[in-house]
Amino acid sequence: MNKTVEPTSVLEGQLQVPGDKSISHRLAMLTGLAHGSSTITGFLTSEDCLNTLEAIEKLGAGVERDGSHVRVEGTAGHFRNALETLDLGNSGTGLRLLTGILAGHTFTTELTGDASLRSRPMDRIKTPLEKMGASIALLGKSGGAPIRVSGGPLRGIPYALPMSSAQVKSCVLLAGLFAEGPTTIIEKEETRDHTELLLRHMGIRCKTDGLSVSLEGGSVDGPSIPGGSTWDVPGDFSAAGFWITAAACREKSDIELLNVGLNPRRTALLGVLERMGADIAIDREDDEASWEPRGVIRVRGAELVGTEVVGDEIPNLIDELPLVAVAGAMSRGKTVIRGAEELRHKESDRISTVVRGLRALGVKVEEQSDGMDIEGVASIRGNVSIESSNDHRIAMSMAVLALSAASRVEIANVQCIGTSYPQFWRDMNRLTGRNS
Ligand code: S3P
Repeated sequence: MNKTVEPTSVLEGQLQVPGDKSISHRLAMLTGLAHGSSTITGFLTSEDCLNTLEAIEKLGAGVERDGSHVRVEGTAGHFRNALETLDLGNSGTGLRLLTGILAGHTFTTELTGDASLRSRPMDRIKTPLEKMGASIALLGKSGGAPIRVSGGPLRGIPYALPMSSAQVKSCVLLAGLFAEGPTTIIEKEETRDHTELLLRHMGIRCKTDGLSVSLEGGSVDGPSIPGGSTWDVPGDFSAAGFWITAAACREKSDIELLNVGLNPRRTALLGVLERMGADIAIDREDDEASWEPRGVIRVRGAELVGTEVVGDEIPNLIDELPLVAVAGAMSRGKTVIRGAEELRHKESDRISTVVRGLRALGVKVEEQSDGMDIEGVASIRGNVSIESSNDHRIAMSMAVLALSAASRVEIANVQCIGTSYPQFWRDMNRLTGRNS
């Protein structure tokens, strides 16, 4: 499916973005292990998260869903053998985190995904899980998924993460729930901490001290997560990021995004855009019951200038780097991104796919092994077709840039957007004042 984006000069209005993807995945898995039933509201009903829900159902959890309202009946610490391959679709989070949990189960499970997921590196979870005592076979042609995991008994380990990855950290921590002795991760840089926050809120002893995250000994019986809770998922900052970027660089724009997750390990895009001259105001709305910070983000358009994004800022805007490139293209001067080699291991090689997309729209950009240099331009070329490379964030980021083009732009193969943001086009129409 292809989609045509018409240029627009302003974005206006209020929007509630859909629920956070990372948190929805984690809640599905952990409530699936709870003793009793839990309610999740604001669950992200995208293909990725629905695949995770389906997987935990096959693993014995009870799932009843009405839109974004989900009731999960937990399996009291331990999943049951699904007796069939679990298909996590396009989702690295679904596949890697679930493999961590299944590493603590004494049966064998096969997990797989689509062509993009099967091409992504999985040795990064095989190494620590095997150190803990699981047996992980990578059955794919390129040494990735399908994964066959033969689980437990596990022992906790200290593990220094070789790359900055919340998925690997979370995979090992979740395996640690079933391990004897403590599991400690030492991060290279801070990455998103939704797993840790959720575990703590569920009563599991998980301590963060600088770059070290420790889980006290787990149990072969699995974690003791009580049921009876209602979890309200905040709006996804990464989804909000598309509109924040689109509005920030369009003078006269004025938008408000409601109930957005404001976990500081997700929101580094705000700091980058502010450095570029963006006018952003935050109204925090946390209350005692919210385990994740949230609030309203207001963005008013301004003229932006280029910036440099390097170092420990990177993991906290890893999914928004295509948008930094888009903002760079619409700014005065040069924008430099470095230290972002992890982008090559996402749903597509996002350094190449961003560079290709920007060039097709007439932007001067130089590819580097770990980033890119972008020259801001006065006008974005129209009347072209941009390939999504079946990567949802590339499709949506290029659609945001296309709003600034001289004339209409076609984005090819946009069906991938359904993996994370099914309402993307409706929300774009809403903020650009179009009806269809
Ligand atoms: C995620 C972590 C990030 C991010 C992905 C979701 C998560 O991946 O890119 O979209 O939910 O933990 P890495 O941890 O592999 O960088």
